[in-house]
Amino acid sequence: MSKIKKCLFPAAGYGTRFLPATKAIPKEMLPVLTKPLLQYGVEEAIEAGLNTMAIVTGRGKRAIEDHFDISYELEHQIKGSSKEEYLTQIRKVIQACTFSYTRQIEMKGLGHAILTGETLIADEPFAVILADDLCDNENNGVLSQMVKLYEKYKCSIVAVEEVPMQETNKYGVIAGEFIDDNLLKVNDMVEKPDPKDAPSNLAIIGRYILTPDIFDILRETKPGKGGEIQITDALLEQAKNRKVLAYKFEGKRFDCGSVDGFVEATNYFYAKSK
Ligand code: G1P
Repeated sequence: MSKIKKCLFPAAGYGTRFLPATKAIPKEMLPVLTKPLLQYGVEEAIEAGLNTMAIVTGRGKRAIEDHFDISYELEHQIKGSSKEEYLTQIRKVIQACTFSYTRQIEMKGLGHAILTGETLIADEPFAVILADDLCDNENNGVLSQMVKLYEKYKCSIVAVEEVPMQETNKYGVIAGEFIDDNLLKVNDMVEKPDPKDAPSNLAIIGRYILTPDIFDILRETKPGKGGEIQITDALLEQAKNRKVLAYKFEGKRFDCGSVDGFVEATNYFYAKSK
């Protein structure tokens, strides 16, 4: 199977937890310091050697396309001034990869969003980043770690971390057996189980590597938790027929889908910038 070049970013959600900020601004564009969440994700993908960003958007998300494009007016205004340096990083990002977009018309869950992205991915293995899980690890990002594992094992991989047992109902939760340090072969997976039903406290966070047969599985996946098509259910199906791995990654992760996590991330990156 080919090398991983493409990264899918599901970015169609409403971001209701951040209203009213997200009324007219996509939640993926909320900044931690001066950089939108989605740009952190794209930079992590570039660092992992990926060069094709496939973004599943929805209504009211046009700011995302404008962000990863040249603003001629702005370029003209600040050309030659000391402010030009503020654009250096985003210019590098735009040059390092291409961006393609498709819209998810109805919100039917993460699995449905990923299936909507099939048109941008086609028949090759790919990564998925959920931008509101903001990850940081110096010089060896979480996706880089996973791409290296993919090169060895050639199968779908999910990133996991231990969470307090009472929080299992916020995540997909896996169970499996260790096949190496920090690496498990998945034998069970449940979307947002009550703590009493959770098979472990190993929660999936928003980094996946998926083999393209996942699309056929998703087409057959019935709505699960919350009446939505869940990637967790499709991955369990994939795990029954072939291997799916769960990787306890190195690094920090912030749940920027919640106000608490967002503030934590802001404080962390602010302290780091000083
Ligand atoms: C999604 C997935 C869940 C995963 C989580 C990671 O849930 O459905 O399995 O653990 O992302 O952030 P969401 O947070 O979109 O409800």
